[in-house]
Amino acid sequence: MYKKIAIVTGGGDAPGLNAVIRAVVKTAVCEHGMHVIGIEDGYEGLLGAPRARELTNTDVRGLLPRGGTILGTRNRGKFSHLPGETDGVYQEALSNLQKLGIEGLMVVGGEGTLGIAAEFDRLGFPIMAVPKTIDNDLASTELTFGFATALDIATEALDRLHTTAESHDRVMILEVMGRHTGWIALHSGIAGGADVILIPEIPFSMASVADKVVERERAGSNFSIIVVAEGAIEVGHEQIYQDKGAADHAARLGGIGIYCRAQLEQLTGKETRCVVLGHLQRGGRPNAFDRMLATNFGACAVRAFASGKRGVMVALQAADVVTVPIGEAIANIKNVPPSGQLVQTARDIGISFGSPDEAKCHRVIESADSATTLECKG
Ligand code: F6P
Repeated sequence: MYKKIAIVTGGGDAPGLNAVIRAVVKTAVCEHGMHVIGIEDGYEGLLGAPRARELTNTDVRGLLPRGGTILGTRNRGKFSHLPGETDGVYQEALSNLQKLGIEGLMVVGGEGTLGIAAEFDRLGFPIMAVPKTIDNDLASTELTFGFATALDIATEALDRLHTTAESHDRVMILEVMGRHTGWIALHSGIAGGADVILIPEIPFSMASVADKVVERERAGSNFSIIVVAEGAIEVGHEQIYQDKGAADHAARLGGIGIYCRAQLEQLTGKETRCVVLGHLQRGGRPNAFDRMLATNFGACAVRAFASGKRGVMVALQAADVVTVPIGEAIANIKNVPPSGQLVQTARDIGISFGSPDEAKCHRVIESADSATTLECKG
């Protein structure tokens, strides 16, 4: 049984990180008599003069509803270089862990952070991983904490866009996060009553999206709501990045919403606006579900560590928290199945994914005396 473990949070923050820290400290200290050391600023806190402090029950008071992470986090750092270039960095971190008397490391993070955890595991250091990401793109767990809160925020944004879109007879586009997956867009699009959902897993044609807007107009709905995942791809094009990334920082997707706005306005003649929801999806209080899931993950992770498990990640499967090997957890990202139940449900209720085969009609745009007639011929 470990006497002293450490906890580190890495990658982008997600609502619920502090709830995990709280559950880990309470369970490890009260139930297992362990000491818990918090590592600051992600793995970077393990380098140089380590930035580490003991966390007690008092330190985690009031943390459950608090957004962000009290430990700080880093998206990319000295550990994210190519294998081989990083050897010295791992040795330095391992030596610091030894000096601090830490016997096991609890890592809370997404794909990138867990990849680094897998390397610590390969080097023989006991690791326990807790999955975190608003993107919900980790394959071995049905859900990650942070996703449900991001979904609430995106859904509320869609609700609010509805009333202004309807008042102005406009097309409103909401660009949401999700990296290379469309989970946030798909779930919020269904919950928020979007007319079109664009996700990376189903490449879209702009003509097909325009057709949907025109079709709605013809049926008497003079406004349309579109939710687009930041990683969505137009057929024959590539994903749009605001920053292609470099050694010290990751690539950042973004810009597809603005792109669609201009194209759509041109194709339909309708006034179109774009809102980029951005980091509002990550900041602030976790919702009830994320607090619960984060707490359950944190407590289960300590129990798994205490029972001798290592090199695994806690994961939600069939409503139970289980453990899966870290290697398995990071082998693939989890994509939206394009023919899955949820996509089918969305299609059944009339939501378009803008796929080329959905195009049912051709637009006719006639301008007479500054009036634009939108028509659909199928
Ligand atoms: O992975 C979480 C996430 O919020 C993605 O959805 C998004 O693409 C990325 O992080 C943004 O990263 P940053 O905070 O570095 O801009």
